Amino acid sequence: MSVTPYTILVIPGDGIGREVIPAAVSVLQATGLPLRFVEADAGWECFQRQGDALPPATLEAARAADAVLFGAVASPSHPVVGYRSPIVRLRRELDLYANIRPVYDDPAAAGNLQARRVDLVVVRENTEGLYAGRERVEDGGATAIAERVITRRASERIARVAFELARNRRIARGEDSTPPARVTIVHKANILRETCGLFRTAALEIAQAYPDVQVEEMLVDTCALQIATRPERFDVIVTTNLFGDILSDVACAWGGGLGLASSANLGERHALFEPVHGAAPDIAGKGIANPLAAIGCTALLLAYLARRASPEDASDMNAWSTRIQRAIRHIRTAGPHTPDLGDNAVTSQMTDAVIAHMLTT
Ligand code: NAI
Ligand code: MG
Repeated sequence: MSVTPYTILVIPGDGIGREVIPAAVSVLQATGLPLRFVEADAGWECFQRQGDALPPATLEAARAADAVLFGAVASPSHPVVGYRSPIVRLRRELDLYANIRPVYDDPAAAGNLQARRVDLVVVRENTEGLYAGRERVEDGGATAIAERVITRRASERIARVAFELARNRRIARGEDSTPPARVTIVHKANILRETCGLFRTAALEIAQAYPDVQVEEMLVDTCALQIATRPERFDVIVTTNLFGDILSDVACAWGGGLGLASSANLGERHALFEPVHGAAPDIAGKGIANPLAAIGCTALLLAYLARRASPEDASDMNAWSTRIQRAIRHIRTAGPHTPDLGDNAVTSQMTDAVIAHMLTT
């Protein structure tokens, strides 16, 4: 194993971020892999203390790290002068253009009539669209306008991520796997002719370089219904920023809900891993947050580091990534479970159970 440690920047943030991220770190520490943890501040409380939700030192540390593990921040829904969501800023500053949200069927739902074999990934463009931050008011506040920015460059590169992912997933399943690799390009080009039109054209052009991957397109409203009713039909879904944000939350219902949904934000040079859920102010401080989404991030993080590590480190990292995922599925079925999953375990009991399972199987 390498002696040079990989640096993981840990940003717990606000609310339950400060409960589930330490749980995730303890899982990573239990692997014994050569990882070095550095902690940094960001979020609403950080803003209240320092007047900056993403201090320059945090941004610098994020740039210097091999990967970032991020909890959640409690952004207010009303405008606050000087406040900008640090996660949106981090995605932009580090050019984390691909937001990857995998959803597997919830093993605890097995036997239930609703149980489905779900294995899909939402690939969401992460830097532009309606989240480009181009909002303004006119008519003295009587009209509010948001500009939706779609570029060919961002559309092409996110499409490439989706097609590569679909190809690699099929290879991992076995070359002649059923179902075949498929990418669903999701848009609303019948109405948003210019913006979604450009996204659609760019994605369909990229598709031509992947004759081994099936391609289909779907309108976003149809897609929402299909995810809710026929989730097993999807493999990789690629879409623009806001559509991806919403569709991935719908999809994660099949994976056991927010408490189990993990995500990766990837760019060419940086990567940030975060649970999909927010700061959960209603349960923060009680020690009962479900840590599985954050722990699932560590499996994604190790798989990412493995792609850049020496072959020797890579094989250890991939093995631990698989073990962590197996442990999550086991705990999801066997317990202990926090209240969101219907029982009364606390965060630390679930975390200890994951660690015990991954160390003994
Ligand atoms: P939320 O995800 O924080 O909570 C929604 C519901 O799910 C709550 O009832 C909460 O208790 C529950 N929940 C979420 N994660 C859980 C977990 N790990 N274990 C058990 N229960 C869990 O979303 P909400 O309420 O819409 O937003 C609350 C705050 O979080 C807001 O300030 C929002 O801006 C922020 N937020 C931040 C995000 C981020 O940092 N990436 C993402 C989403 C929301
Ligand atoms: Mg969301």
